[in-house]
Amino acid sequence: MSNPTIAAIMSRYTCRDYSDKMPPADDLTTIAQAALSCPSGGGKLPWQIIVVKNKELMQAMDEEGLAVMAEKMPQRLEATKARGGLFCGAPCMIVVPMLPGGPNGSMFDCGIVVQTIAIAARSLGIDSMISGSSALAFQGPRGDDFKRRLGFAADAQVGLSVLLGYAKTPGRPHELCMDKISVIE
Ligand SMILES: Cc1cc2nc3c(=O)[nH]c(=O)nc-3n(C[C@H](O)[C@H](O)[C@H](O)COP(=O)(O)O)c2cc1C
Repeated sequence: MSNPTIAAIMSRYTCRDYSDKMPPADDLTTIAQAALSCPSGGGKLPWQIIVVKNKELMQAMDEEGLAVMAEKMPQRLEATKARGGLFCGAPCMIVVPMLPGGPNGSMFDCGIVVQTIAIAARSLGIDSMISGSSALAFQGPRGDDFKRRLGFAADAQVGLSVLLGYAKTPGRPHELCMDKISVIE
């Protein structure tokens, strides 16, 4: 059985090769609003949804992240540069910092938000990559300046980001691992 929601979920894949084309502003607004609709522990909405379309800022963050990578995980540097840097040439991204949450923190809530962003994007024909390594951009000397420019709240912690754009070369979803499913009757 399929429907447009299932089709969007099941056709998503991680895109690491973007063209310069910027998604329409209306689509980015729709995606950001879809994120706002997410459930969260205790309904606290313990995150911010920051849509970044500024090329200069993204490039500066990318360079900073690569410099941190060179220091902390040099074995990943060449492959990351080869695919266009930390942000893979994506024209925009949504940064999702975490705010203080319930007893379990806000990491689960942040995860729900980034997957919702990825699925909403796919439903609009926009490719995506959830990025944990975007956090590296905040670990260098310019990290606090990036937080200021992005409008991080004072009590916000770095969470995940989602790169958004259009694949240069379309990829495919991963194979389904059916043995992960069990049914207990
Ligand atoms: C929490 C999280 C963090 C991730 N961080 C990165 C990352 O920093 N760099 C990257 O290339 N992919 C990242 N990914 C993408 C995964 O590598 C990808 O989802 C996985 O390889 C499966 O591929 P698929 O998304 O195409 O199904 C991340 C995914 C998740 C869920």
